[in-house]
Amino acid sequence: MMKYLNFILLVYLLVFISGCETDKKSDSINKTKTELTIPLAGGDTTIFDASSHAFSIPAPNLTAAALHKHLKGDVEFEAVFVTAPAEVNPGLGPIYNNVSCINCHSRDGRGRPPDIDGKLVSLLFRLSLPNNNKDMDGKPPIPVPGYGTQLNNKAIYGTPAEGNVDISYTEQPLLTSEGTKIHLRYPNYTITDAYYPLPEDIEVSPRVAPVVFGLGLLEAIPQENIISNADESDINADGISGKPNYVWDVIKKQYALGRFGWKANQPNLLQQVASAYHDDMGLTTSLFQMENSIGQSQHTNVSPSPEVSDEILDVVTFYVQTLAVPARRNVDDPKVIQGEQLFTQAQCDTCHIPTHRTGVFPGIPSISNQTIHPYTDLLLHDMGPDLADNRPDFQASGSEWRTPPLWGIGLVRTVNGHTNFLHDGRARNLLEAVLWHGGEAEKSRNMTLEMSQTERDALIAFLESL
Ligand code: HEC
Ligand code: HEC
Repeated sequence: MMKYLNFILLVYLLVFISGCETDKKSDSINKTKTELTIPLAGGDTTIFDASSHAFSIPAPNLTAAALHKHLKGDVEFEAVFVTAPAEVNPGLGPIYNNVSCINCHSRDGRGRPPDIDGKLVSLLFRLSLPNNNKDMDGKPPIPVPGYGTQLNNKAIYGTPAEGNVDISYTEQPLLTSEGTKIHLRYPNYTITDAYYPLPEDIEVSPRVAPVVFGLGLLEAIPQENIISNADESDINADGISGKPNYVWDVIKKQYALGRFGWKANQPNLLQQVASAYHDDMGLTTSLFQMENSIGQSQHTNVSPSPEVSDEILDVVTFYVQTLAVPARRNVDDPKVIQGEQLFTQAQCDTCHIPTHRTGVFPGIPSISNQTIHPYTDLLLHDMGPDLADNRPDFQASGSEWRTPPLWGIGLVRTVNGHTNFLHDGRARNLLEAVLWHGGEAEKSRNMTLEMSQTERDALIAFLESL
């Protein structure tokens, strides 16, 4: 049976590939057949590559001109910035977290909390003061005097870094219905080496760098489709609400639907990229013209002219909009098929919505009108007190997080050499990630604990096939 399925798959693939080269009509018919066998995770931007480069491949349907632009963006994504003045890539800092995009989004993949060496590389900490004014609910986080809204743990020569973070974990056991013990590690974060007095009521939100492929497709999902899945007051009474975040759009100067970041705190990729240059690397752009150290007494070197040009901002944004999505693997494995059924039974698909259709994205036909399988609703959910960072971010409360897409999650081990999941990388494997689910997802978590070992293995096999 397995052999037979593989054979059919091969025939469909061959038909699909040859179809691509013939007329458009038969192409779309054949694609429908392929969809039945392998769901093309990223529509026409899908690539069949499960190697350590799986997250770094340009969408295969880009035109020659678009590919050229993508590759320019790739160079800039890897560019290492240095202290000004310098011939190449000056302007780093004065305070920053890392010197290039790729250093945090290693191989366009995800970051992790530090090893035993304790050095923060791809995990950063957002900061704020509590909001005690009802009128300020849903507004931007309140900056901490001397720090702003992010802890910059590095600084250029001659200036102090803002501080560092000490991370320790306490293990707590959890029992499955069959009596198997699983340990979860509870993180504890302490800011150390603070250069300036820290307020006692400071709010700290740890966040690891997420993967950056497939993001143009998520940006191209029509806003009304995302909002149509929201159920803020849980009218259908399934215990799962889902709420849109509305965040400040600095170009339009108005609130807009949030889509990117762990709390959906960025409205689009251009602003996300400009914020990364600004907050993570201390580089100004036309969107954020003041240094990230503005107002901090130890820094006087405020440079108003953009350190990163609009052209670079444009190609880097295009780069993260047009990275291909890796295809699923082992889709005909009976264990994976069983896992997919359990995924539905345990209500995982209520938040991790498998399928969306993109609209027309101005200027980028390759990500327009695609049927995609990202496994997210891009909405916020209350995930319970254990996952809470207790730091509100616009409409997101201290315990709400955006459902992260699950596509490609089974390839993180191959690409990034680790299996640390969730917003701060506390989960050491996929099962732990699921067992951390609480709040609206508590029922799903409990169902996972009540599964037999074989069923739980199947659920994980399904996640690994994504
Ligand atoms: C210090 C590490 C670090 C650096 C440097 C960095 N990022 Fe990130 N990036 C992150 C983290 C952490 C997040 C999640 C932020 C959040 O949730 O608030 C993120 C989020 C993103 C996202 C949104 C992903 C999603 O799924 O929502 C994009 C796109 C992105 N970064 C691109 C870039 C680009 C482009 C650069 C270089 C200009 C860059 N990043 C530099 C750590 C980093
Ligand atoms: C109520 C909505 C909801 C339900 C139901 C839900 N999830 Fe999630 N899931 C989330 C959110 C939100 C996160 C991010 C939490 C965090 O990082 O703190 C997440 C994170 C994950 C992650 C880690 C992703 C990453 O990038 O680190 C995996 C894996 C996952 N979920 C699988 C599942 C499975 C399997 C089920 C069903 C047993 C499930 N989820 C049910 C909302 C949900």
